[in-house]
Amino acid sequence: MPDPIKITYKKKGSISIEATVRIVDEDGNEIPQPPAKRPGIVKLCGCGRSATLPFCDGAHKKEAGPA
Ligand code: FES
Repeated sequence: MPDPIKITYKKKGSISIEATVRIVDEDGNEIPQPPAKRPGIVKLCGCGRSATLPFCDGAHKKEAGPA
């Protein structure tokens, strides 16, 4: 049995997947991935503020403005 894939969820929202993966939309179309900062790790956005959804672009690090 292969080792399980490690997925790290951070409280501020990013989700790191340590594996080679294909990300597809609801119609099955592949979504091109941005260049990885760390090869072999895909970071998804869980905060909803990324300009490059579904991928994390670091926007979760910025303070939220007034509501
Ligand atoms: S988790 Fe990083 S931009 Fe949303």
